[in-house]
Amino acid sequence: MRERLFRGRLAEQVLAGLPAAARIADVGAGTGTLAIALAAAAPGAEVIAVDGDEEVLAIACAKPGAGQVDWRQGLAAELPLEDGGCDRVVLSLVLHHLDPEGKRAALAECRRVLRPGGRLHIADWGKPQDPLMRGALFALALLDGFDGIRDHAAGRLPGFVEAAGFEPVELHDRLRTAAGPLELLSAVRG
Ligand SMILES: C[S@@+](CC[C@H](N)C(=O)[O-])C[C@H]1O[C@@H](n2cnc3c(N)ncnc32)[C@H](O)[C@@H]1O
Repeated sequence: MRERLFRGRLAEQVLAGLPAAARIADVGAGTGTLAIALAAAAPGAEVIAVDGDEEVLAIACAKPGAGQVDWRQGLAAELPLEDGGCDRVVLSLVLHHLDPEGKRAALAECRRVLRPGGRLHIADWGKPQDPLMRGALFALALLDGFDGIRDHAAGRLPGFVEAAGFEPVELHDRLRTAAGPLELLSAVRG
């Protein structure tokens, strides 16, 4: 899945222009590879990793470097974070797990916890540009469910982000992977 490549690029984008003593929230952090890398690369920042799955968080907490991250159990639609306290929020491979209502709720929460001018970063599936990528994304939808992936396949994710109160979405990268076209997007909280 070209994980190292996409995580490296995502981390670079998240860290670009980061203010001193910034707060970064990684929502749906999974086993925490990105959150730990961000904490290592920005030792002055506070990195908070949120995931709904207790077992996944237990794996994350046991990894080297995990002590530099604040791990919190919580849902994307009800983040355990105060209003306007974050400089960056990351959603990496999370939104395609959510149906349209879940995407709207998660994006509204990301906006709530970002300070004005703070930046949301998304890594997730985009609209396939050729038959090979279309086939790969279709195979993923068979596994992960069509309800979450349909809007990604139709190129509608940027519209969801903008409708949640973000400025126009910037596309940084589109990577061809075995699971489909992975897009790295960002948008500033309006
Ligand atoms: C495919 S993993 C991605 C993990 C990590 N962000 C990455 O890029 O490797 C999706 C993660 O999102 C979490 N997740 C899914 N739906 C969620 C929700 N509604 N609220 C919080 N976490 C959620 C899952 O528990 C899982 O750890």
